[in-house]
This record gives sequence, C-alpha cells and structure tokens, in this order.
Amino acid sequence: MAAAGWPGPGPIAVVGATGLVGEVLLGLLAEAGVPAGAVMALATEHSAGRTVSYGAEVVPVSALGEDTLGRAAVAFLATPNAVSARWAPWAAARGTLVIDKSSQWRLDAGVPLVVPEVNAHVLAPGVRLVATPNCSTIPLAMVLAVVRRHRELVRVLVSTYQAVSGSGREAVEELAAQVRAPYEGRAEPPPQIYSEPIAGNVLPACDAVGAAGFTGEEWKLMRETQKILDSPVPVVATAVRVPVAVGHSESVAIQCASPVTADEVRGWLDGAPGIRLADDPGQGLWPTPRRAAGTDDVWVGRIRSDPYAADTVHLFLSCDNLRKGAALNGLHILQAAIERGAISA
Ligand SMILES: NC(=O)c1ccc[n+]([C@@H]2O[C@H](COP(=O)([O-])OP(=O)(O)OC[C@H]3O[C@@H](n4cnc5c(N)ncnc54)[C@H](OP(=O)(O)O)[C@@H]3O)[C@@H](O)[C@H]2O)c1
Repeated sequence: MAAAGWPGPGPIAVVGATGLVGEVLLGLLAEAGVPAGAVMALATEHSAGRTVSYGAEVVPVSALGEDTLGRAAVAFLATPNAVSARWAPWAAARGTLVIDKSSQWRLDAGVPLVVPEVNAHVLAPGVRLVATPNCSTIPLAMVLAVVRRHRELVRVLVSTYQAVSGSGREAVEELAAQVRAPYEGRAEPPPQIYSEPIAGNVLPACDAVGAAGFTGEEWKLMRETQKILDSPVPVVATAVRVPVAVGHSESVAIQCASPVTADEVRGWLDGAPGIRLADDPGQGLWPTPRRAAGTDDVWVGRIRSDPYAADTVHLFLSCDNLRKGAALNGLHILQAAIERGAISA
C-alpha cells in the first residue's frame, strides 16, 4: 500500500477527521502515499465546509451521512461510541471495510479486536467490521504476546499513566488552559472534561467507577487484553490520568508459570516487531511519554527481575496513544486486511 498509494476499490473515509485521532490518521495516510483525492474527511455538520491538513495538501470536510459514507470502500471511525453504534453496522452491511476506534464493538463476540503484531490471524477474508483496542491495551498486549511465546502467563498487574489526549481534543485544551492560567494572571478555568483539575494533578480514575470498584477504562484494559490474547489470564489494572499531552505509560508486573529473568525478557523484546527497547538506566535511557510521542513504537525499559518472586518481572512502557495506540494500529489493520485478502488493493 505504501508504494502503490491506494489503488483500492473506492475512497477511504476518515470519520472524525477533525478530531485528534482523525488528524493523526490523515497524516499517516498521506505518508503512506494515499492520494488526497482517494480520501474523504467526514465529521459533524458543524465542521462541514472546513478543510483539514493532508500532508502538504488540505482536504475538505463533509458531513457524515449516507451520501458520503456510502461511497467509501474503507471507513475509519474515529468518533464517539454512539456514532460507531449507528454507522458501523450500516456501512459494513453495504460492503465497506469498517475499522472502528471507539469502544462500541470491541468486546462483541462477532467483531475481531485486532493488534496485527499479535492476532492478525483473526482477520477472516470476508470481515467487514474490525475493532481497534483501547490505547493502553495495544502496547500491553504487544509486550505480553512476546513474553507468552516463552512463558505461560499466570497474572498481570498494570498501572497506567494516561495522557489527556486519550480523552480527545477538548481535554488537551483543558490541560493547556489550566497550565496557562496562573502565568496569564487569570483564575484557573473550572474543569469540564475531568471531575477535578488535571494540571499539576494525578487522577486515580480515568472515568466512572463501576463493577467491583474498577473504572470502565480499567475493565477495557483487562477484558480487551484477554480477548486479543485469547486467554483468560487475569489482568488487573489501575488506570490513572496524568497531566501529559501525548503518550500513555504503564508500569507492568508479569507473573509467569515458571521462573523468568529480566535478561530473558529483555532479549525476547529486543527486536520484536513494533517494540523499541530503551533500557539503559545508567545512561538515563528509559521509556517516557516525551520519547514515545511522535514515534510508531512501544518503548519498553526498566525491566527488572522481582527480588522476591522468581516467576515475576517488572517493566515500564510508553507509547504514543494517538499513533500506535489508535490511528497507526487502525492503518496496520487495513494493511493486514489487504495482505489477508479481506479487501483488494
Ligand atoms: N485519543 C486517543 O488516544 C484514542 C485512542 C484510542 C481510541 N480513541 C477513540 O477514538 C475516537 C475519537 O477520539 P478522539 O480523541 O479523536 O476524539 P476527538 O478529538 O474528541 O474527536 C472526535 C471526532 O468525532 C467527530 N464526531 C463527533 N460526533 C460526530 C457525529 N455525530 N458525526 C460525525 N462525526 C462526529 C468530531 O467531529 P466535529 O469536530 O465535527 O465535532 C471529531 O472529528 C473515540 O471513540 C475515542 O474513544 C481515542
């Protein structure tokens, strides 16, 4: 696809083109050589008539509707759940390959939930609706899949440090406004997206607390990881929002069924597809959101053997939540679908 541009059977629609994920996806499609004329940028009526950047060019934004989405051969839905609930089945039934970034369909038994480095094999040739996982799930699943090739997993404990861009454009603006306020001699604007100010703060719940005291974000991380790995391995999460613009990080403890060492895990992860080892603490080299932001890789470091349990290793990872955590994984799904004959290109 990168070399040939997009010789596919019809246009590629980016629905949510004015949002954070849509913006990154448009940039990735342009980088992949898809001509601007093969791309439809869709959003609400409110945004229709605007233009959005497409590499060095711009493309016009149109309103999402049957007349626009109905022409697409491929549709990336980078929109809220309600939009995906309505439009994904409609477009898929018309033969469009729908790659949905919302959480609407991820745990639906009939919808593959795909990280191509881990489970591209679940993309059947006739598939028309594919879900891309939560932005914290993707890097975690990629790391666990590598370890699982060598050791049976027994239990995973993960704490996240999630950037505000994971909550969309308005959340980034909220953090920026709160950070600027004291320097501009203004009162801090009241929080709209989060329940408390996020600037200078850490929120130990990314969204509402629900079943068993875990938040929806935590259940996504736990259940989606199990679905992608096709394993009931217990994954227990604490999802935390931090005042970082871009780049989710995670502290992960991996318990295996037999002894495992940090050196072994380092060796397995080194060179694994999509993973960049950054593990030289003596040189101050470890994953950070700032290192990961703008890159395509899952950065992994601080790999340590547990001093009290020979079957457990600890590590830290960072990943650009808008790229591999969202838009880039969607593009990888399209490329894997083409390779597996789900769509011609
Ligand atoms: N941000 C991340 O790191 C991340 C990672 C993984 C998954 N996701 C998921 O990806 C989706 C998009 O996230 P985002 O961060 O890009 O959000 P965002 O910045 O808030 O953008 C939302 C986009 O959806 C469009 N939209 C909203 N309602 C619509 C409607 N009724 N019809 C058509 N378009 C509509 C908006 O268009 P207007 O500008 O016209 O309102 C905008 O383009 C969400 O489901 C999110 O949960 C996000």
